[in-house]
Amino acid sequence: MTTSAAASGPSPLSRPSAAAGASAAAPPAAFNPLDLSHSDDPYPRLAALRRERPVSTPLPGWHVVVRDAEVRAVLADPALWSSRRNNTSVPDTPEADRELALSQLDPPAHTRLRRLLSPAFARAVMAELEPVVRQRAEALADRLEPDTDLVDAFAAPLPRSVLAAFCGVEEADAADYDRWAGAFTDLLGQRAHAEWPAFERWALRAADGPVLSGVLGGLDRTEAVTFLHFLIVAGVPNLRHALGNLVLRLLCEDHWRAEGLPEAIEESLRLDPPALWQMRTATRDTTVAGTPVRAGERVVAVVASANRDAARWGADADAFRPDRPGVRAHLAFGKGPHACLGASLTRLQLRVAAEVLIDRYPRTRLAPDFRFRRAGDFMSRGPAALPVHLERLL
Ligand code: HEM
Repeated sequence: MTTSAAASGPSPLSRPSAAAGASAAAPPAAFNPLDLSHSDDPYPRLAALRRERPVSTPLPGWHVVVRDAEVRAVLADPALWSSRRNNTSVPDTPEADRELALSQLDPPAHTRLRRLLSPAFARAVMAELEPVVRQRAEALADRLEPDTDLVDAFAAPLPRSVLAAFCGVEEADAADYDRWAGAFTDLLGQRAHAEWPAFERWALRAADGPVLSGVLGGLDRTEAVTFLHFLIVAGVPNLRHALGNLVLRLLCEDHWRAEGLPEAIEESLRLDPPALWQMRTATRDTTVAGTPVRAGERVVAVVASANRDAARWGADADAFRPDRPGVRAHLAFGKGPHACLGASLTRLQLRVAAEVLIDRYPRTRLAPDFRFRRAGDFMSRGPAALPVHLERLL
């Protein structure tokens, strides 16, 4: 049996009321994805935009879509909505394309690479990894102090350590890899990073070995290095945020128990997706919900908003209801050809990490003065810190 104690006082989670952000006169201000000032709680603004301004244009050539229907349509259609060269500083030449991440390619280059890489994420691989994830989560959990910041001491290091295991990092390289996994956070200017040369030397050695179920053997060496780097950027910060969001949700919803965890994890990902939005570029002139978009202009598909759209999720879309039908159909992992390759690794890690914490510390409480402060760049969101009090059962 497990027991739990929710935070006392008002919940630190966002719960926009039906009227939140609504205004009788002026329509809600556009959602500017590059403006971090809304970031601790973007949800009231997004709710108002879904009602009143489903497409807004906060910057010239940047159109923000917030409803489930348009977000899904954009993500599902790579011919109209290109991912090519999203957020990149890589030169625009055919040779340099091998330095573009999987998420920055369109078909057919994307289709080829994704087909080659997918076996590394197969169900059997995840099953083999589960005991390793558990052992690493237990090792971290056993070292926790009674009063601790769970982000710093658990949610941040665990994804680095699990990704190292997934990528077959050997003991001798573990400390270096842990440092790289903390240092690489985005896809801009990666090769100029001070840690890049050492990382590249390791990655070239790894690419020649049997890591990742041998899938790197089908890639050229630059592609393999690019992918090993992208795994860090795609996997580490998002997982840290997802784990922090999950712990916070479970505690605030008085759901600190192992029963029903898989569904609770999906609800957490729906309500608090670590990746708030995805970007695409129009390949031709078109319209979105009646708004003209010209070829070359950007569309920002705000999955965090779509995940709370009452038109898709019902009137209780803002509520935590792990038993809601179709709970896995959220967009936290994207949709369409670029849907997250690491979704099963993420689900595995979130479940095992929560099981370990709940088992070790069934009486966990948020610090009474906890206030949510966001960590993450423009695209991502999770708690910067999670001060908790941990108690084992005697
Ligand atoms: C909570 C954790 C995670 C979240 C929320 C997340 C979210 C996403 C999203 C939204 C996309 C789609 C991007 C787009 O449409 O442009 C994506 C793609 C991707 N993710 Fe994840 N991710 C997570 C964890 C991971 C992990 C742990 C890995 C691997 C170690 C991973 C690997 C990838 C890869 C390789 C892609 C590119 C797929 C493609 O372009 O075909 N992700 N992720």
